[in-house]
Amino acid sequence: MRSIKQAKNLAGKRVLARVDFNVRVNKNGEVDENEAFKIEAVLPTIKFLLEKKAKIILMSHLGRPKGKIVPELKLDGAVDHLSKILKKLVKKTSGVVGVAVEREVAKLKDGEILMLENVRFEKGEETNDTKFVKALAKLGDIFVNDAFGVCHREAASVSGIAKLLPSYAGFLLEAEVSALEKVMKKPKKPLLVIMGGLKFETKLPVIAKLLPKADKILLGGGLASTCLKALGYGVGDSMVDDEFLPLAKKIAKNRKILLPLDLIVGKKEGGCNFEHLPMPTKPYKLIDAPLAIYDIGPETIQTWSKLVKKANTLIWNGPLGHFEQPPYNHGTISMARLIASRSKGRAFGVVGGGETIAALRQSKMAEYIDHVSTGGGAMLEFLAGKKLPGIEALK
Ligand code: 3PG
Repeated sequence: MRSIKQAKNLAGKRVLARVDFNVRVNKNGEVDENEAFKIEAVLPTIKFLLEKKAKIILMSHLGRPKGKIVPELKLDGAVDHLSKILKKLVKKTSGVVGVAVEREVAKLKDGEILMLENVRFEKGEETNDTKFVKALAKLGDIFVNDAFGVCHREAASVSGIAKLLPSYAGFLLEAEVSALEKVMKKPKKPLLVIMGGLKFETKLPVIAKLLPKADKILLGGGLASTCLKALGYGVGDSMVDDEFLPLAKKIAKNRKILLPLDLIVGKKEGGCNFEHLPMPTKPYKLIDAPLAIYDIGPETIQTWSKLVKKANTLIWNGPLGHFEQPPYNHGTISMARLIASRSKGRAFGVVGGGETIAALRQSKMAEYIDHVSTGGGAMLEFLAGKKLPGIEALK
């Protein structure tokens, strides 16, 4: 990938920069505090372009409006947040492409920033439609991709436009690729992978890819409940990916895969109605509905902490329980603290995924991790060894 640092004569150039401002915004237009880091993460690229006196045109999607204008998915909240942290006015267009937008772009002075409206309000964005790509490309002289989180999408503002304009990677995209390549290609051993959450469909390829390199893979959350059900345990109302039971059984039997040694079970609403269950050695009906598995237990935390302390590379994606609902946050918050205590020095730690980052922030540990990825799906696809269209287009 060519770095934005290599771009020459940026002064006065119209730089179309793809960013990932896909962040939750509340009714008052404020960006969710767990997601604001996605906007903050592109500041180095924006500041660099400002110093070079470029005319900056930002593009992003928000949500999945599927080619229609959805008022709640306008980018005003994100633009206000960017203006606030940059301490500089960021203008916004009301459309994505077309004559009115072109007029706004033509008025831009060197060192000014203009954000286009949500690119997914246009059908051509997700279909990577040639006409739409051309209309976007008309707005800029060069293209910068600083949106790692959306690089797994073959979309007009991500991969399509890179074929029409001289294209570069922004600093965030470079940092993401370099951190993830480091843990994939030359992980300092022991390599410990911690996976939670549910969706087997996206997590299984990552587990399969990392298994040969990893020393151990710890499974929590819905992944663990699915494996336990696949092994014949009765798991009540636990979140289970039923479609993947046969594969989960195979995974669970691999000697590098570790399942929880004990569990916290209870009712969804949390409170004091929870129970601590040690894992029986033989498949056994652990619980009946409406009880469900909501966290890993203290013995698991203790045993897994020893593995975290021995590891030199740590990769974590997915919460280990229903962490939004105390007291079911102990496993996930303990893992956040453990990984943070080993990262930046003793081990190289990479953490990603929306919920995982929310947990990291809940534990106030994000700043101690070597690399917190802004990509959820993109990080998983990268770790699964897939080629990401947004990155390929820059090569
Ligand atoms: C993300 O939040 O993971 C990215 O912005 C991608 O969003 P998408 O899954 O809607 O393409």
